[in-house]
Amino acid sequence: MKQRENFSSKLGIIVATAGSALGLGNIYRFPCEAGANGGGAFLIVYLAIALVIGTPLMISEFVIGRRAKSNPVGAFRLLSGKKSAWPVVGYLGVLCAFLILAFYTTVAGWTLGYLGKSIAGHFNHQDLTQIQGQFDSFTNHPWLPLACQLVFLALTAFVVARGVKDGIERWSKILMPLLLVIMVVLCVKSLTLSGAAEGLRFFFKPDFSKINGRVLISALGQSFFSLSIGMGALITYGSYISKKDNMVSSAVSVVLADTMVAVLAGVIIFPAAFSFGIQPEAGASLAFTTLPMVFQQMTGGYFFCIIFFLLLVIATLTSTISLLEVIVATLTEELQLTRSKASIVGAVGTAAIGVLATLSFRTGSPLHIAGNTFFDLLDHVTALYFMPLGGLLIVLFVGWKMERADTMDELTNGGSLKAGLRKAIMFIIRYLAPVAIGVIFISQLLA
Ligand code: TRP
Repeated sequence: MKQRENFSSKLGIIVATAGSALGLGNIYRFPCEAGANGGGAFLIVYLAIALVIGTPLMISEFVIGRRAKSNPVGAFRLLSGKKSAWPVVGYLGVLCAFLILAFYTTVAGWTLGYLGKSIAGHFNHQDLTQIQGQFDSFTNHPWLPLACQLVFLALTAFVVARGVKDGIERWSKILMPLLLVIMVVLCVKSLTLSGAAEGLRFFFKPDFSKINGRVLISALGQSFFSLSIGMGALITYGSYISKKDNMVSSAVSVVLADTMVAVLAGVIIFPAAFSFGIQPEAGASLAFTTLPMVFQQMTGGYFFCIIFFLLLVIATLTSTISLLEVIVATLTEELQLTRSKASIVGAVGTAAIGVLATLSFRTGSPLHIAGNTFFDLLDHVTALYFMPLGGLLIVLFVGWKMERADTMDELTNGGSLKAGLRKAIMFIIRYLAPVAIGVIFISQLLA
């Protein structure tokens, strides 16, 4: 009996963390970034960063969370002693959660809208121009994208208000494997389109001359974004991990699963985009034009499209839940709000900024700053500044500020797990990860 309990609780963190990690970051943002940053060159840098920096950072967040059993602000306060400045890292994380959630729910709303459109059959017998036109007219619609965003936020707040365990885990456990199945089907279809090989070459053949500071920081930001690290979301989840769980192997499983889904998304989108003549640099519309085009070419595409967008909505929901959870855990523990009140405050606060992100997508919208939409601004500020900085401070905290014995105690579950591998991880956390993040971060500031 004991064995069984252990297993299910271990599966619990993997499922919850994977639920947080898997989402629009993999299916929408990863292809978008890879397309804009040279394809294969981006992929190779991305893989290296996700494995070498992403995994130890995820483990570091788990260590802080489980040690302190608290929200990010409280965790830094508890582990660093009175009068320390470290809780600022927690506050930065909460602010970052607000900013990410604000623009993330714009795209989350699109997934709802696209679910509706696929049910209504809007993608049947459409050519490329028409499908691209649908993206423009949807994002320019006077109220639809706003309504979708607000509905999505309300759904998120509802799940979070009901509590962590039953809320989060139940949703993701069954449905994420199903998403994977549908993506494999899509992948097979995409690879058999005429001209697919060119897309594969773009995605897998690295042109090393394209690797520059911009590619490095974009890959760093994307890997943090995709893995939900660098702002305390997984400190919050770490605080719900039981003492028996193996955090190292859980982190490795999540990183592998997340990376696999991102690569799979690339293998679906690039061959199809090249085949249909969609630019890989298309940006925000890349996934939202390519995918409906692929479905349209498939037998049973109408149904596949509906199921796909339904599952994408759910994958996205488990990610927005984890973002709102950071805010709610902090508000309930630091300001003693009830869970329901905290969820409402979090959702309303997000909506206030989020609505502007959605509006900034309209053609001719005044919400442009230095040539970028307000949406892009939120995306860049969080992925290129907040998360790298947060990630750097988190590894420095675990590597240098926390008691060594406490950290090793967490990593080895009180000495019951082998120490060898954990010492190597500790080395990466202390030296390699901070130097790598620091160099990439500083070099882009200077560029
Ligand atoms: N990782 C999610 C995705 O790829 C987005 C996300 C959820 C996130 N929680 C986060 C990103 C916390 C950064 C931090 O879609």
